[in-house]
Amino acid sequence: MTGTEKIEEASEARKPNETDVLVVGSGIAGCSAALAAARAGASVLVVTKATRPESAATHWAQGGIAVTRDAPESLRSDVMTASANTANPTAIDVLVENAGEAVADVLIDTLGISFDREGDKFDYGKEAAHSEPRILHVDASTGQHILGPFCSYLDSHPRVTMLEDTAALSLLTHEGRVHGATLERDGKTWATIAGTTILATGGIGALYGTTTNPGSATGDGIAMAALAGAETEDMAYVQFHPTAYAGDDLFLVSEAVRGEGAVLRNADGERFMPGYHPEAELAPRDVVARAVQRERDVTGEVTLDTTPLDFSGTFPDLAEKCDERSVPHDSIPVAPSEHFLCGGIAVDDRGRTTLDRLFAVGECARTGVHGANRLASTSLLEGLVWGLRAGESAVGFDADSSALEMPTALNSDPALPPEFARDKFVRLQRVMDECVGLSRNQTDLRRATSALRRLKGEVDAYVRTRTSRELYELRNASIVALLVARDALDAEPVGCHHVEEVDAD
Ligand code: SIN
Repeated sequence: MTGTEKIEEASEARKPNETDVLVVGSGIAGCSAALAAARAGASVLVVTKATRPESAATHWAQGGIAVTRDAPESLRSDVMTASANTANPTAIDVLVENAGEAVADVLIDTLGISFDREGDKFDYGKEAAHSEPRILHVDASTGQHILGPFCSYLDSHPRVTMLEDTAALSLLTHEGRVHGATLERDGKTWATIAGTTILATGGIGALYGTTTNPGSATGDGIAMAALAGAETEDMAYVQFHPTAYAGDDLFLVSEAVRGEGAVLRNADGERFMPGYHPEAELAPRDVVARAVQRERDVTGEVTLDTTPLDFSGTFPDLAEKCDERSVPHDSIPVAPSEHFLCGGIAVDDRGRTTLDRLFAVGECARTGVHGANRLASTSLLEGLVWGLRAGESAVGFDADSSALEMPTALNSDPALPPEFARDKFVRLQRVMDECVGLSRNQTDLRRATSALRRLKGEVDAYVRTRTSRELYELRNASIVALLVARDALDAEPVGCHHVEEVDAD
């Protein structure tokens, strides 16, 4: 019997399923957690609303995975500097000290990923704010070369069941302990009881009009955890990537292209970055993103000039994307686009949240590694390291449903307008783009907070009478948008959280 059939049979019989470890999400962090828990002997159920692997953000990751090479101290210091000295030094130590072994064990020995090489050595890439080339990569589509083999490996693991196109709607909690989640697939819902639950649901890109994330990035794990009472931290620090293709059918133009020598030009053809920062195009990401936005506002356009490098030879995947859109390789129109949430569900060095038996890993978690701004190509590494640590620590707890009241599906409101969720989503994105974007001010943030509170109230009214994935995603997005806007009102204006001079009211 397949995993899906097992779940459906239990669902039909109205019995909760049970698993030792429930992992929600199938990017590198979720897969790493599942792998570690299964290696430690646990039964693991991985549920993902992705029709994996294409719709997980890891699949979209281009640049690669930073490693320490022979200089851990230098990676430590680059992560700290990129964060504007706001990152947690202990969390950086965990990242740096575990990087080599995690990459060698999982990516190289277990999955056999063939990172690009030059002769018999790795071809380490260089990206902004890295003091040396240290990025392991496969062309500029590293994520998909990792995630495909990872999912296949877990698919054939005897203790892991992977269930795709399956959403977690809410956590099952009792007296501060998490016991699993209510799951949904094809409109059917059921409860899965778990000894421990690991959230690995990714980021919040769908809250903005343009993003380098897949559209499924609606902040589900963060919203579910917050509703259950878990603490979140650093939600104001939303990172925007400076160079997303500025046309229809957006794609990320990796920072690695600037690492190889590409330069940014405004509509007058002027290379402007040296006037903004001594590191020019390789300045910290938030500095480049704001400079690109400003030059677009003032001159009308910014393009990436790739003539200093062999673009199609070095980045064949990106060259192909340009060709598909008839974009000239030597002048790619670019604009900032939402890319990564540095904050999230507060976790410790093992991915433990503030709720008993609930873990969070990957972009939905706030480990402290990124502080107010993330160094490029550290997110896959963070997902890998924290995924493994959380998976190991999540083993050894019994699934117990005795004290739980099982949720029931609500469908008493068949009159929900079909466009309801879509329309509200567009409204939410407009508020986030206009008021909680790359540059913020207190007036806009207050306006956003009121608008989002109203919107959340409208959505909540429907969620009380109806169970649908679309509606839950909208609920999640509205909760997370409010968390970002509220945190931005008080957060230290540093790194990704740029606050303009207070307006004269
Ligand atoms: C990129 O390839 O520019 C993105 C890398 C990252 O965000 O870590």
